[in-house]
Amino acid sequence: MLLNEVMQDAVNEQINNELFAMYSYLSMSAYCEQKQFRGCARWMRVQSQEEYGHAMRLYDFLIARQGRVKLKPIAQPEIEFKSIADTFEKALAQEQTVTQQINSLYEMAFNQKAFAALVELEWFINEQVEEEKTARDIVYKFQLVKDDPAALLDLDRELGARPEDGAAKPA
Ligand SMILES: [Fe+2]
Ligand SMILES: [Fe+2]
Repeated sequence: MLLNEVMQDAVNEQINNELFAMYSYLSMSAYCEQKQFRGCARWMRVQSQEEYGHAMRLYDFLIARQGRVKLKPIAQPEIEFKSIADTFEKALAQEQTVTQQINSLYEMAFNQKAFAALVELEWFINEQVEEEKTARDIVYKFQLVKDDPAALLDLDRELGARPEDGAAKPA
């Protein structure tokens, strides 16, 4: 076995965590749509695709290591938010949670001497640094603009300029 049972279970768990993140961002996107913040909605939707890409990266890794992908139910994400700014605060909190999940998985791979998994997970560790920074920057911008309608519309336009995520497409 290229990847032991314990590691396989843990990677399957992380696939589920990434899919939950995908679902959660999609729910935030739907909220933004309803509030007519189309740019924010687009940003969240692209982020949702990116999370799908993360799940698939682990999915492909399991297969490459002759592991068994076992999909589990995806929990229901939050659907109500206090404001658009609140969705980004929740997004940041979620990224911080995912960072902890990735760290624990990395620690497990380290203890199990699963070297290929360690290398794969290094990508995720770097990615989480990026994801947290991006979310934190946006939260900060929302704190700056507060309730100023003109600035909010500008920010919405800026976030809406986010390009499609190429990584979410099948290789
Ligand atoms: Fe992710
Ligand atoms: Fe993420």
